[in-house]
Amino acid sequence: MKTDVNILGIETSCDETAAAVVRNGSQVLSNVVSSQIALHQKYGGVVPEIASRAHIEKIYPIVQQAIEQSGVDKKDIDAVAVANQPGLTVALIVGLTAAKTLALALGKPLIAINHIHAHLQSSMMDVQDLKLPAVALVVSGGHTSLYECENILDLHLLGSTIDDAAGEAFDKVASILNLSYPGGPSIEKTAKDGNPKAINFPRTMLAKDSLDFSFSGLKTAVLYHCCGQDMKGCSRVTQMSQKEIADIAASFQAAVIDVLVRKTKMAADKFGAKTILLGGGVAANTMLRTELENMANRTGRKLLVAPKKYCTDNGVMIASLAYYKFKAGMFADMSLEAKAGVDD
Ligand code: KG4
Ligand code: ZN
Repeated sequence: MKTDVNILGIETSCDETAAAVVRNGSQVLSNVVSSQIALHQKYGGVVPEIASRAHIEKIYPIVQQAIEQSGVDKKDIDAVAVANQPGLTVALIVGLTAAKTLALALGKPLIAINHIHAHLQSSMMDVQDLKLPAVALVVSGGHTSLYECENILDLHLLGSTIDDAAGEAFDKVASILNLSYPGGPSIEKTAKDGNPKAINFPRTMLAKDSLDFSFSGLKTAVLYHCCGQDMKGCSRVTQMSQKEIADIAASFQAAVIDVLVRKTKMAADKFGAKTILLGGGVAANTMLRTELENMANRTGRKLLVAPKKYCTDNGVMIASLAYYKFKAGMFADMSLEAKAGVDD
């Protein structure tokens, strides 16, 4: 009798075309990611139409490679999972159409996955005994959200960004500093040579008990610091020394991380959390991982963080989360739609 569950996961919510086959939620049989970074680099951000076109070109070969590399025969794929929200609609729809087509052709169920929840699943893939209650922080290019987590299928949103996401702020500040896209890795690299205390950038905490985030004020503070309030000094950035740029990058990074850690601690205290979960592209940042780990250790909690290779968008997190929906019989039908926003 066949007991293993093999799930094909497809991810096209932003600028990665990705597919993976995962067995029983944690055994990664294949993981194929085609990044569009080179296509969007000169624009300093993701251009939806370019992303959509690139997904259309790549989706078939990427899915085929994922199946081939997994060594699993198509008939032994038990379900096709796809991120259908949130993200760029024109990008999501490419993965969704491919997933529906495959599910129909293979005669297998379709599973709808919330991309943000999947980012959190990456932090729990190998975890057997999740100590509850847990609070979860997802930090990506499009979202900065805090959840209370009962289990991976039961997440309650506690707060989210009211303007820019943390990753978006990294990308925009990198663009102000003429650093390459995506901004997160280049700010992190540049910040290594800088002093995080050189500039006291604002830490926006909003109302006293608020678990929401705001990063647009910080981004504007960096802009004014570089260009002046009248915006007449932007050319100054090109004349700044490497040390000056590194100090700005390090001070900005410290401000973002300070807010993320403080808000996560507030949520963890409020809900008596024993565990803190961290996922999303910005979770690849070493300083964020270290500072959250320090906070968790100081306060007697365990931090579970996604391995760096699964922080940014990938198909593994989609297929892994889908396993739990598969076991719970939570299937979607062919009317499934792509949604730019998120249900929760
Ligand atoms: O999760 P992700 O791949 O895509 C979205 O769902 O948005 O996250 C991408 C974001 C980008 O904004 C990128 O700059 C940021 O994650 N990022 C980082 C690092 N690596 C990627 N931010 C800070 N430090 C990093 N090392
Ligand atoms: Zn993502």
